[in-house]
Amino acid sequence: MTTTLITGANKGLGFETARRLVEAGHTVYVGARDADRGRRAADELGARFVQLDVTDDASVEAAAKTLEAAGGLDVLINNAGIETRTEDNSVPVAATVTADQMRTTFETNVFGVVRVLHAFLPLLQRSAAPVVVNVSSGLGSLTHLSDPDHPAHFYPGIAYPTSKTAVNMLTVQYAKAFPAMRINSVEPGFTKTDLNGNTGTQTVAEGAEIIVRMAQVAPDGPTGGYFDVKGPLPW
Ligand SMILES: NC(=O)c1ccc[n+]([C@@H]2O[C@H](COP(=O)([O-])OP(=O)(O)OC[C@H]3O[C@@H](n4cnc5c(N)ncnc54)[C@H](OP(=O)(O)O)[C@@H]3O)[C@@H](O)[C@H]2O)c1
Repeated sequence: MTTTLITGANKGLGFETARRLVEAGHTVYVGARDADRGRRAADELGARFVQLDVTDDASVEAAAKTLEAAGGLDVLINNAGIETRTEDNSVPVAATVTADQMRTTFETNVFGVVRVLHAFLPLLQRSAAPVVVNVSSGLGSLTHLSDPDHPAHFYPGIAYPTSKTAVNMLTVQYAKAFPAMRINSVEPGFTKTDLNGNTGTQTVAEGAEIIVRMAQVAPDGPTGGYFDVKGPLPW
């Protein structure tokens, strides 16, 4: 039996990933910072709920204790993420971005991933087939954002893409440090969720596909990589 924790799984891509992995037979923990939203989502999915705010040490440590007491963890999906917006709902750009906007974004998207890994690594190390999926973004690709011929080149924001580039480096470094684990970054693609005011062009079913696939990667499958649904991406 595979036990899987998904952070930020009360809606969006995390919720759809939870649905698919419950279907695949995993025991899924819906991690959510809000207990009502989390419980409701878990009940709807036939999953379990664990309170978890990735910006809060105590909540993440308590969640790790809960899973340890329940028998451990095999698959960790670092999905919780935010795209910080300015007052006029645009993304902070080079001319105006503040250190506070960067800090807020990194607190969830980067330090949140480290906080959760730090708390759950001891459990993952006890699993026979440990897997970590870091939900990154195509906007974290230095190669694509610096290529004038790539569609992602147009994206002017600073905080969100730099946070996802940092997530990619976490993937590279943790994968080297823990060769027995499969640790990969994934890019779901531009998906209709609250994160982008539901402007995404893909459905959550399409977006969750690579997350679900990498959550089920075989023990001899890739690690330390960056993938979308079509295959490897350039960093
Ligand atoms: N949608 C896209 O086009 C797209 C593309 C590439 C990558 N991604 C990535 O995919 C992941 C999921 O995003 P989404 O599109 O599904 O967005 P979403 O619908 O806004 O869902 C984000 C989830 O993260 C949770 N969250 C935010 N801050 C949290 C915190 N401090 N602790 C715990 N949970 C927290 C949210 O919980 P609340 O309900 O409490 O806010 C929500 O459940 C993110 O990492 C995002 O960067 C999305």
